[in-house]
Amino acid sequence: MKVSFHGHAVVKVETNGKTILFDPFINGNSLTDLKVDDIKPDVIIITHGHNDHIGDTVELAKKHDSLVIGIAELADYLGAKGVRTHGMSIGGAYEFEFGKVKLTPAFHGTGFNAGDGQIIYLGMPAGVLLTIEGKTIYHAGDTSVYSDMKLIGERHPIDLAFLPIGDNFTMGPEDAALAATFLQAKQVVPIHYNTFPVIKQDPNRFIDLLEEGNGFIMEPGDEIEL
Ligand code: NI
Ligand code: MN
Repeated sequence: MKVSFHGHAVVKVETNGKTILFDPFINGNSLTDLKVDDIKPDVIIITHGHNDHIGDTVELAKKHDSLVIGIAELADYLGAKGVRTHGMSIGGAYEFEFGKVKLTPAFHGTGFNAGDGQIIYLGMPAGVLLTIEGKTIYHAGDTSVYSDMKLIGERHPIDLAFLPIGDNFTMGPEDAALAATFLQAKQVVPIHYNTFPVIKQDPNRFIDLLEEGNGFIMEPGDEIEL
């Protein structure tokens, strides 16, 4: 499968003719190389209800009849906007036609700003384990480090983990390096940094904190074969 990073928390997985997109925050994302008009996701997986993660989901899903997967309350909310959804909850897994999705805990918020000062709370934030063709990708969503990441790593050998390092709203580089140790992921890629001034980080510092060869930086648009 092809796995690519597109700035902030946007990750794309292409396999068996399907495109799976995580957290498609395109409009307003200063780092992304994508344009909403150029992507055709079959599946959109959303980690939590913050605007920088829901992003352009409604427009994309309506246009391409994408299946939107997320926590049940978030799925209900987007379903009411006319989007095809599949709701799940923390700890639950489901075998989809394209692969298996399991939601993990994330310590964070999930209030969607509807634009009129109204904050709509959409269930709980989550991380995502995506298993396709025998490989498991972990997208941590936005979270602090927590010691049960050890359990996630024990239960699910992770081939590639995307971990936020921006600090302020999520783990910073030091905590994310500890998370990488807990998760025992084969490879780790930093995300959720430099999009806004408050989450400015040097990703090389994070890489330096990892065990030798355990992580690498993906620039927006970079793609790897997994
Ligand atoms: Ni968030
Ligand atoms: Mn975020």
